[in-house]
Amino acid sequence: MSMDYEHNGKLITFEGCEGVGKSTQIRLLQEYFQSKGIDALFTREPGGTEVSERIRALLKDDGLDMCAETELLLFEAARYENTRKIIIPALEAGKIVVVDRYIDSTTAYQSFGRGLDRDTVERLNRYATAGVKIDLTVFLDAPPFANTSRGADDRMENAGAEFHDRVYEGYGKIGEGEERFVFVPTLGDKHATSENIIRLLSERGIV
Ligand SMILES: Nc1ncnc2c1ncn2[C@@H]1O[C@H](COP(=O)(O)OP(=O)(O)O)[C@@H](O)[C@H]1O
Ligand SMILES: [Mg+2]
Repeated sequence: MSMDYEHNGKLITFEGCEGVGKSTQIRLLQEYFQSKGIDALFTREPGGTEVSERIRALLKDDGLDMCAETELLLFEAARYENTRKIIIPALEAGKIVVVDRYIDSTTAYQSFGRGLDRDTVERLNRYATAGVKIDLTVFLDAPPFANTSRGADDRMENAGAEFHDRVYEGYGKIGEGEERFVFVPTLGDKHATSENIIRLLSERGIV
């Protein structure tokens, strides 16, 4: 499915396990865009709108227990809001949109991690993205918690080591043979990684 209207924007998604440096790399990219005067919109999932941020709080609440299916639908609900209200208008305005996690997180976490049917997850992903096409996915390739042991009271982060290992393996399968999905090693100097990402954007004609 593709968007049934034209736009000149570009959609870049950042993916990866917990604590591998997604937020760090996105911040470095934001600094680069600012230094070059490139107009870009940065958002995160779940998040971006008031409704989505409230759903985020539900999803992260370590005091809540919910069915895996409920979790899936909440992520998709948050995604639809952010996509319709924030991401699509920015793409239509010709902007580069950078999102911290998107559909591959749902496939990796809710299908490979939680064990929900992959076709169902991918169908809901398509529905929740309203047919938006991703131009590039930067997968920060490192095992979960590579840089940190946050020990946060975060329901997803606290889902257990085996869960997070399945997520990492899942990402590997999602990215196999997928043109938009690029594996970027992320251990080591964060500035070197950032330069690799900027080079990738340039190779793909995004900047
Ligand atoms: N290349 C790196 N080397 C060492 N530490 C890093 C590197 N990149 C990020 N960090 C640190 O690791 C932690 C997790 O990074 P973060 O960007 O929050 O990961 P994510 O958003 O993927 O969960 C942070 O404390 C961050 O400062
Ligand atoms: Mg982060």
